[in-house]
Amino acid sequence: MHGRLLVLLLLTPAVVSQSLTACSFLERDFNWSTAQTLCHRSNGTDLLSLDLVSLPGLSFCTGDLGMVWTSLRRDTLNDSAWFWDNTIIAAGTEDVSSSLSWTEEGSGGHCASIKDSTWYSRRCSERRFFYCSNNNSQHEYVELNMSWEEARDYCQRDSRTLSSPHTDLEAQDIEGKKEGWVGLYRVGGDTWAWAERHNLSYTAWGPGEPVTSDCGAFSVEQQKWKSFPCERPLRVACHNDNLEVVTERKSWEEALQHCAGRGKRLVVLNNMQDYQYVRKRIYQTQTDQVWVGVRFLAGRWWWVDGSPVQEQLYPQCPEQYEACGTLSKRDNTMGLTQDCSRRLNFVCN
Ligand SMILES: *[C@@H]1O[C@H](CO)[C@@H](O)[C@H](O)[C@H]1NC(C)=O
Ligand SMILES: *[C@@H]1O[C@H](CO)[C@@H](O)[C@H](O)[C@H]1NC(C)=O
Ligand SMILES: *[C@@H]1O[C@H](CO)[C@@H](O)[C@H](O)[C@H]1NC(C)=O
Ligand SMILES: *[C@@H]1O[C@H](CO)[C@@H](O)[C@H](O)[C@H]1NC(C)=O
Ligand SMILES: *[C@@H]1O[C@H](CO)[C@@H](O)[C@H](O)[C@H]1NC(C)=O
Ligand SMILES: *[C@@H]1O[C@H](CO)[C@@H](O)[C@H](O)[C@H]1NC(C)=O
Repeated sequence: MHGRLLVLLLLTPAVVSQSLTACSFLERDFNWSTAQTLCHRSNGTDLLSLDLVSLPGLSFCTGDLGMVWTSLRRDTLNDSAWFWDNTIIAAGTEDVSSSLSWTEEGSGGHCASIKDSTWYSRRCSERRFFYCSNNNSQHEYVELNMSWEEARDYCQRDSRTLSSPHTDLEAQDIEGKKEGWVGLYRVGGDTWAWAERHNLSYTAWGPGEPVTSDCGAFSVEQQKWKSFPCERPLRVACHNDNLEVVTERKSWEEALQHCAGRGKRLVVLNNMQDYQYVRKRIYQTQTDQVWVGVRFLAGRWWWVDGSPVQEQLYPQCPEQYEACGTLSKRDNTMGLTQDCSRRLNFVCN
């Protein structure tokens, strides 16, 4: 057992140490929509976001660029609503679906409908009736056959939203027994989220900002956000997130092999920023704890790349001898130890 693991440990350093996130610059200035399209050309790559602004990598990333586009956009229908139009952080948004009563029927869809307080996942292009709610949370059943997007736009045209009952209890307020679209959809194909846009929970606008323009940029000098007209060409840095959050359940060693088979390794977290960043990215996992690339062996903790483990991160002497390290998506304590044979989700990088 230990012999096999040592071999694996010796093999892993062949994988070049890879940072969690990387940046690439586009060679010239582009308007916002072109910048976004160019960044989206590779999977897991997008314009800069809030998370990047808080990562130490950013100063390296934006080096000598004065002002760069971020994925911040203003809602075209609402002058005061700004949101992150970003596939990477959207995938890290908390999954709101687990507390709802779903049917198994048609579970492959990316948009949600409701019927008699039961949730269905449906293909977004299907044409259905839908529920709009006004700002008093009154739900109206609209008997027009529309795709989910058309229905959302229809409700928004009268300053209403596709109904968004956040719990099964609230869903009972929708009296109709008939099936209709509601405002729940899968962001980036994975995580279920509400279509209504929430206020930004953190803002860093520069003095006097935002002005009347609709696209958000980041001033490297001021470390502040600024709004610019979307058609204006500006510098572009694309953020590349190398993480692969695997929602299959495997033992620690199987997880290690799964990552290696994809030219990656179980994620190594050797600083607090990386630790915080990965915590934000594991919301969609099915297990509360996920394997990371650390194991207790021969009297000490080892990261799979051979780097030292910060003393505070894992307990000096684990309770079980066969211990591997996890990160928890709910518990804000540092690393937790688990029996290595437990079957958990994991993160490759
Ligand atoms: C990119 O994402 C698409 C859609 O999720 C997927 O089908 C494709 O395999 C991905 N490509 C790579 C190189 O990961
Ligand atoms: C516009 O957005 C703000 C902030 O998100 C929100 O408080 C307000 O209700 C919205 N107005 C309309 C008309 O939707
Ligand atoms: C929403 O509430 C505001 C303030 O109470 C009101 O002025 C507005 O007309 C309402 N909008 C709708 C669509 O009912
Ligand atoms: C709307 O959809 C229903 C149910 O699918 C169907 O019976 C009806 O014919 C459709 N109406 C129109 C106008 O397309
Ligand atoms: C959004 O922010 C505005 C202004 O700070 C506040 O009045 C409003 O209650 C917030 N809306 C939500 C849904 O938090
Ligand atoms: C952005 O640039 C592209 C390519 O030059 C152009 O087709 C598009 O209309 C521009 N968009 C805006 C909003 O200016």
